[in-house]
Amino acid sequence: MKRRELLKGAGVLSIVAVVLALCGNLGDAADPTPVTVLITYHSVSGNTERMAQGVAEGAKAVSGTSVVLKRVGEVGADDLSSSDAVIVGSPVYFANMSGEVQTFFDNWSLKFSLFQDRKMRNKVGAAFATGAAVSAGKEFTILGILGAMLNNQMIIVSGGGGFGASATTGPDSPGIDEKELAAARDLGKRVAEVAAVVKRGSLKSSSPIIALTAP
Ligand SMILES: Cc1cc2nc3c(=O)[nH]c(=O)nc-3n(C[C@H](O)[C@H](O)[C@H](O)COP(=O)(O)O)c2cc1C
Repeated sequence: MKRRELLKGAGVLSIVAVVLALCGNLGDAADPTPVTVLITYHSVSGNTERMAQGVAEGAKAVSGTSVVLKRVGEVGADDLSSSDAVIVGSPVYFANMSGEVQTFFDNWSLKFSLFQDRKMRNKVGAAFATGAAVSAGKEFTILGILGAMLNNQMIIVSGGGGFGASATTGPDSPGIDEKELAAARDLGKRVAEVAAVVKRGSLKSSSPIIALTAP
């Protein structure tokens, strides 16, 4: 075969490769991985609820994502086991998650047997918090939530801020401002995106190779 014919053949192959690559990308956009993101929270005076709504907006913006938004007391075992990702929000109570949120996690073992059966393994997890003071426990609260998720072998991600999304609600900064809401949206969006990647990779099918100790 002459050199010119070889070059022509290579050119045609390159064009075919580019078209195939473009089709692949378009295919992804047109056929997103369906994921369910459960966003659950405790809120007495509405601040954490407002952040939860922001998180939900961000998750919904990712094509293929279904969002379930519930208070922690309304969440049942099915809500948790049917979700691909769980995002938990709490007000800061004495530098920690509130009792309601702690009870919610306790029920993963006591009521729902999710811990014993490793039902939460490889689901994506994330957290958000609101607190009255600039520095009086928001990150402890988020880390407490993430710790409970790690104990259940979930895949932890952040978004919005370094550990998750948070808002200051006390006298110096009343209410939830646009920047804090943007952080909440960013958290929801990132969790939905990562959940789709994990689901496409079928990580959820992996089971533990060692017996884990009780919490
Ligand atoms: C019992 C209790 C303890 C609290 N402890 C803290 C605290 O340690 N640090 C802080 O920043 N805010 C603290 N707060 C304020 C709440 O975290 C804050 O007002 C929060 O935004 C309330 O959320 P909600 O409107 O969703 O109920 C406390 C509030 C209550 C009721």
